[in-house]
Amino acid sequence: MNKIILITGGAGFIGSHVVRQFVTNYPQYHIVNLDALTYAGNLENIVDIATFPNYTFEKGDITDILFVEKLFLKYNFDGVIHLAAESHVDRSIADPMAFVLTNVIGTVNLLNTAKNAWKSNFEGKRFYHVSTDEVYGELHNLDEFFVETTKYNPRSPYSASKASSDHFVRAYHNTYKFPVIISNCSNNYGPNHFPEKLIPLMINNIRNKKPLPVYGKGENVRDWLYVIDHARAIDVIFHNGIIGETYNIGGNNEWKNIDLVKLLCSTMDEKLGRKKGESEELITYIADRAGHDLRYAINASKLMNELGWSPSVTFEEGLAKTVDWYLSNWDWIDHITNGDYQKYYEEMYKIG
Ligand code: NAD
Ligand code: DAU
Repeated sequence: MNKIILITGGAGFIGSHVVRQFVTNYPQYHIVNLDALTYAGNLENIVDIATFPNYTFEKGDITDILFVEKLFLKYNFDGVIHLAAESHVDRSIADPMAFVLTNVIGTVNLLNTAKNAWKSNFEGKRFYHVSTDEVYGELHNLDEFFVETTKYNPRSPYSASKASSDHFVRAYHNTYKFPVIISNCSNNYGPNHFPEKLIPLMINNIRNKKPLPVYGKGENVRDWLYVIDHARAIDVIFHNGIIGETYNIGGNNEWKNIDLVKLLCSTMDEKLGRKKGESEELITYIADRAGHDLRYAINASKLMNELGWSPSVTFEEGLAKTVDWYLSNWDWIDHITNGDYQKYYEEMYKIG
């Protein structure tokens, strides 16, 4: 084993794809997956690699100082890829404090523990913080894109907590010369996406012929990237990115919510053998998200030009793979859409 790497949040949506990317492509690394298994963490996401000899799962909370210190003593980590977070904007509006605890305090706890464990000898070490494009705020003009130097302007409790964590990561670099890298990615989609987020929620509701809740007029725009392309970008940046730098990651693939929901309806109608237009009738416009960001759009040319990354699938291919995955994995969704989660969902959307 020539590197021991800690990946946090590896039982979540993106983290599980990152764990798989590293465990399967780098048999010489030992990957330790630290995850608290919150409502969003699911070991079923990584069941295929659970017994690989270069993989270990550790259940624990990144806000637990003693636990994280012990983990750094147990494993002499060479690197950290930090994804653990509270990630859903609507939940951050309902309960901001959970976001401050995990996203801000949890991140600072990891930074501090790594700094102490590495005893300020940072040769060969790196701490990679996975962040979001939401820290930049919202865009109004169609010719505007987020670049790495765009001023931070977070507008939801979630994005404020992620922006705060980014600031701490940069502060550790500036103050202690701590070896950090940050990436800010646009909206991901793909297999194992938790069904509270737009695309899997719509797929699941279309399947169950339930209302499709579109916030406001559905005019908001998101820039969608296939999750495996995000995992590939994280691999490239972890290995070849320059310490202290930030890289934007995005698919150059903007969709208005309502157009995307209609595309999912027609794709699902075709795949399920339903009559054309049947699922569109389920579209239900509901109250807008408080402080709803209008448009996100990423300029990823730094990553593409300097590190040679580009998406491997078109949106058409990625969406077809995603819908096919859900169609063959209803068990996965059934296991998580019950009990407490279901109660939360019904309260939140006031629809049954
Ligand atoms: P997710 O909610 O699916 O997964 C988060 C994981 O973190 C879960 O497995 C959960 O159990 C774990 N976790 C939460 N709190 C923890 C704690 N206190 N200690 C240890 N583990 C904890 O999230 P995701 O969508 O996979 O996002 C992963 C990361 O990528 C986040 O940092 C998010 O901000 C960032 N990001 C997400 C997107 C997106 O579109 N989903 C886009 C850009 C960046
Ligand atoms: O941009 C990156 C971010 O993308 C990540 O940092 C977040 O972790 C991730 O959750 C995602 O945030 P969004 O708020 O953009 O994703 P969400 O899937 O919640 O919503 C996408 C759009 O769809 C948004 O404009 C709100 C809208 N929406 C969402 C839901 C859940 C609806 O209209 N109806 C819904 O039911």
